[in-house]
Amino acid sequence: MSAEQKKPGLSSGTALLSVNDLKVHFPQKQGLVEAVLHPEKRRYLKAVDGVTFKLQAGETLGVAGESGCGKTTLAKTLVRLYRPTEGEILFLGERIAHLKGKELTRFRKKAQMVFQDPYESLNPRFTVRAILEEPLVIHGFGNARERQERIVSTLGMAGLLPPEAFLPRYPHEMSGGQRQRVAIARVLVLEPSFLVADEPVSMLDVSIRAGVLNLLGTLIQRLGLAGIYISHDLSLIRYMCDRTAVMYLGRIVEMGSTEGVIRHPLHPYTQALVAAVPVPEIGRPSRVNLEDEPPNPLDIPRGCRFHPRCPRAKGICQEVPPPSVVVDADRQVECHLYS
Ligand SMILES: Nc1ncnc2c1ncn2[C@@H]1O[C@H](COP(=O)(O)OP(=O)(O)OP(=O)(O)O)[C@@H](O)[C@H]1O
Ligand code: SF4
Ligand SMILES: [Mg+2]
Repeated sequence: MSAEQKKPGLSSGTALLSVNDLKVHFPQKQGLVEAVLHPEKRRYLKAVDGVTFKLQAGETLGVAGESGCGKTTLAKTLVRLYRPTEGEILFLGERIAHLKGKELTRFRKKAQMVFQDPYESLNPRFTVRAILEEPLVIHGFGNARERQERIVSTLGMAGLLPPEAFLPRYPHEMSGGQRQRVAIARVLVLEPSFLVADEPVSMLDVSIRAGVLNLLGTLIQRLGLAGIYISHDLSLIRYMCDRTAVMYLGRIVEMGSTEGVIRHPLHPYTQALVAAVPVPEIGRPSRVNLEDEPPNPLDIPRGCRFHPRCPRAKGICQEVPPPSVVVDADRQVECHLYS
């Protein structure tokens, strides 16, 4: 992305987001008697369990991994819809993990999320105008005329043309693709600097996915946003993202440039993921069948959490969690094979 395309004040190399040992553990229900007699026996589902990474301004990071590995929980925590159990999130140097009240509202204006299902973020009883005006009112933006101008220009940016025709419509009066474009417009109307998109096209008809993806990609570039793009689909991540992080049971097990990670995966789990999806030119055999033994975040194996499924596991893997190893300037991997 060229320097002119970036937002003023967010030069390349600025750590927009810095995440350090982030954990999100969900307490499991306990019977009343046991809760009183044995509170220490309460179990925790470790959805995110020690995630560390940095995101530069203007950069797009893809997050890949199997269902249940913690992608959505991570995403919701980064935009502070969830509160972390432990760890720190710095947004432009400011600690946001425990923000409350007005400061949290101020942060949320800059950090926005597009959900998998547009119905999750669109109020069915609101028209498009009301859907886009609500966040502007919450964040105290301008007068009625200025809000109208911002809404119309944002709908245009989101490819809903002519914008005036969409203003009075309700979500059920639009197609799935149009609804997702309204959801995208709703987050862009606040001019955020950080956008998380969680499987934004997986519920859309295949024929309209490319249009919505192109829109997201173009907007991220044109507005100089930093973005996190979550998907099961490595070929979509390859199309959208500069860097890729691979998650397994709540941790990032490999991270690097998207082309590097997809063309030369180092972690045995990444190798299995790459082998399992049809990425043109890159398919390769793997001895891990990802259809079997889905991992359980309530019962994380000791040592390397991937060891029960890993074809290259050795003795140490069953006992000692692998450290994060910086293999080169562009790659980081959590695996004893590289330590
Ligand atoms: N609010 C919650 N309370 C309790 N457990 C939760 C909550 N949200 C998620 N979980 C659990 O945390 C784990 C990770 O869930 P998450 O939705 O983050 O996974 P994911 O990688 O996004 O999966 P998918 O690809 O299916 O969307 C799952 O076991 C899930 O059941
Ligand atoms: S640490 Fe061991 S079990 Fe884990 S991925 Fe590497 S080789 Fe496999
Ligand atoms: Mg999810």
